[in-house]
Amino acid sequence: MYIFKLLVLIAGAPSFLNAASKESDLIMCDGVIFHNVYYDRELLFSDLGRPYNLVMHRFSGILFFSHTIQNGTSVDFGIRACHLDKRTCRDIKGVPGGYAVAYDAGNDDIYFGGHDGIYKYNFLTKEAEFFAEEGKSIWGLFVRRNFYYIEYPTQKLYVYRDDRFIQVAEAIHIEVDIFFVSKHFDVYFANKTALYKVEKPISEPIVLSDEIQVRQIVEDNYGDVHICASDGIYLEEKPYHRIKKVAAIDQAFGTTFDDTDNMIYSDRNNIYRLTPSKYSGVCMNAINNPEARYQGDETRRKNKRT
Ligand SMILES: *[C@@H]1O[C@H](CO)[C@@H](O)[C@H](O)[C@H]1NC(C)=O
Ligand SMILES: *[C@@H]1O[C@H](CO)[C@@H](O)[C@H](O)[C@H]1NC(C)=O
Repeated sequence: MYIFKLLVLIAGAPSFLNAASKESDLIMCDGVIFHNVYYDRELLFSDLGRPYNLVMHRFSGILFFSHTIQNGTSVDFGIRACHLDKRTCRDIKGVPGGYAVAYDAGNDDIYFGGHDGIYKYNFLTKEAEFFAEEGKSIWGLFVRRNFYYIEYPTQKLYVYRDDRFIQVAEAIHIEVDIFFVSKHFDVYFANKTALYKVEKPISEPIVLSDEIQVRQIVEDNYGDVHICASDGIYLEEKPYHRIKKVAAIDQAFGTTFDDTDNMIYSDRNNIYRLTPSKYSGVCMNAINNPEARYQGDETRRKNKRT
């Protein structure tokens, strides 16, 4: 994240700023550069504890995520649902230790996982209903074509087959912390060793990176796979089996996209949305050439003298 206070004088400013009426404007370049474009950062929800597993439900406009809640003297996780436009939030009751969130796009269903199994969200009653795996602690959930979950603390990956959950054969001997299947049915997963991709027909996992701490893997509306790591957002550089950082974020915890593909992300305490900035060019320039931000002052001094 970059913070620059930029004083732009209209006299010395690029012509596209001439629309501003005042002689000078204070521009705060405290947004985020994402895919080489500068965006403003809109604060959506604040004062949260570690908002993990952001899932945007586009039809209802509700953002689901997990966050820490204080329970007596101990800290636990719980599920929260926030309406993006109304800016209202509710904690979803009945999911003890609610941590995992998944969206089943095929059936338009939302699932949660906690200390005691898997729950399904009822959009009519706005409550979570018990679904499966009573007594199991759920670390992660993922639904696309198949229904997957990761058990805590073993970090074993399970899939639903013939009326029950069984361990995924290819992952019996390994731990899985984050699991994702893309629109094109490529499998991505991360564990304490690295971030991997499994491409059909070769089933051997390929290392994409062993240098980042992966927190969430998501897809935008175009099907580009974005990896949220603790230090920012990464994109796979196809076909090289490596990733590149497309946004630097301090302590990123999760990411998703809204219905118009604006990026939403969380840091340690807040959830933000990136929106197009009218100062995109100026701020991009100021961030890339820190020297340039003094030019405004310089111009003003000159103007005063004349
Ligand atoms: C708080 O912890 C107690 C004991 O572990 C548990 O029974 C209760 O459900 C928890 N409350 C919430 C809101 O999670
Ligand atoms: C992570 O997955 C890779 C690829 O399957 C495996 O070689 C490695 O042992 C796993 N790490 C852990 C901690 O399970």
